[in-house]
Amino acid sequence: MKKEIFKAVQISEHVYWVGAIDWSIRDFHGYLTSRGTTYNAYLILADKITLVDTVKAPFKDELLARIASVIDPKEISVIISNHSEMDHSGCLYDIIDYTEPERIIASKMGVKTLTNHFHSERGITAADDGGTISLGNMDIAFMETRMLHWPDSMFSYLPEDRILFSQDAFGMHLATYERFADEIDDTVLEYEAAKYYANILLPYSNLIPKAFEKVKKAQIKPLIAAPDHGPIWRKEADIGKILGLYEKWAEQKSQPKAVVIYDTMWKSTELMARAICEGLEKENVVVKLLPLRAVHRSDVAMEILDAGALIVGSPTINNNIFPTLADVMNYLKGLKPKNLIGAAFGSYGWSGEAVKQLEAMLTEMKINIAGEGIRAEYVPYDETLIKCFDLGKQVGEKIKETNIN
Ligand code: FEO
Repeated sequence: MKKEIFKAVQISEHVYWVGAIDWSIRDFHGYLTSRGTTYNAYLILADKITLVDTVKAPFKDELLARIASVIDPKEISVIISNHSEMDHSGCLYDIIDYTEPERIIASKMGVKTLTNHFHSERGITAADDGGTISLGNMDIAFMETRMLHWPDSMFSYLPEDRILFSQDAFGMHLATYERFADEIDDTVLEYEAAKYYANILLPYSNLIPKAFEKVKKAQIKPLIAAPDHGPIWRKEADIGKILGLYEKWAEQKSQPKAVVIYDTMWKSTELMARAICEGLEKENVVVKLLPLRAVHRSDVAMEILDAGALIVGSPTINNNIFPTLADVMNYLKGLKPKNLIGAAFGSYGWSGEAVKQLEAMLTEMKINIAGEGIRAEYVPYDETLIKCFDLGKQVGEKIKETNIN
């Protein structure tokens, strides 16, 4: 690839974005990335030229071309790996071999994780948590952010330009030519940041306030937050906005909103779902009806982020829940959503185990069952649909009570 075509983008006095844009990815380890993504890497033009993170392996040439548009990549003296996941480290060892830097740095866990990925240590040394190293005319500081969202995750901070390199945190899957958040529509930013949080960071929500506290104690006041995916936050109001959203999402405070997910074989469970939604709507709560044959698991996760209830419906097939429900419930269980109430429903032919199975899953997820599960033998009679409507109303009332208290 040519440096005359793939250019770096200057983001501050000493720092350039040298990442790659992946316009075509739609499946990011099971997460539907409808708008593609970027793998962000950053070049610091200090005395000791430094590369922060790399990109997914197939994008190595794009990274090198963008670096070459500023300096000869062989001038790189220091490489920092803030996060070992392969969308940021996939070509790290190739870049190390090509540039032969003096120093390669990762967190303590990062050294271990990278070694286990690439089966070689390659001279990577561990950064001290809270420590700094000199890049000649400026320093760079390190701060471990374990389990946000991998054990190796680490922030780096360049006080000279007041840039926080935050790896996955504050990122989103969004392929654009615009490099800065203030150049992108707010609705898109908030949607994609929420989807990213729900699918990547939600299980570790309790660690977010601790990470913020750590940043505060270190007296880090970034003017720019530079994540490893999506746009860079460079305006005070934008940084304040994304931090505020993270605080809100980490609390998992529910809104008066119910998410109803279902699948159906011959439209009976669908009919029940519709009746439940009508009942919910009667209580003036926001209702999201998500048919799993049409809605991806990662979009369900996104809708759950601020919901107060999860209502699940499945027909019974061969004594079991429908496969799409098994997929989504397993995925949601791993994300550990909090502050939800729930209920289950579904039609059946002769044994009808699905509703009990779904209730057991909800209970295992620590979701309080808010109303008795409803089963319909084959096609629901009107009285069963009325029960569904009433269940919707009942859940709607409880969501509102929760939001008042
Ligand atoms: Fe973008 Fe956890 O990798």
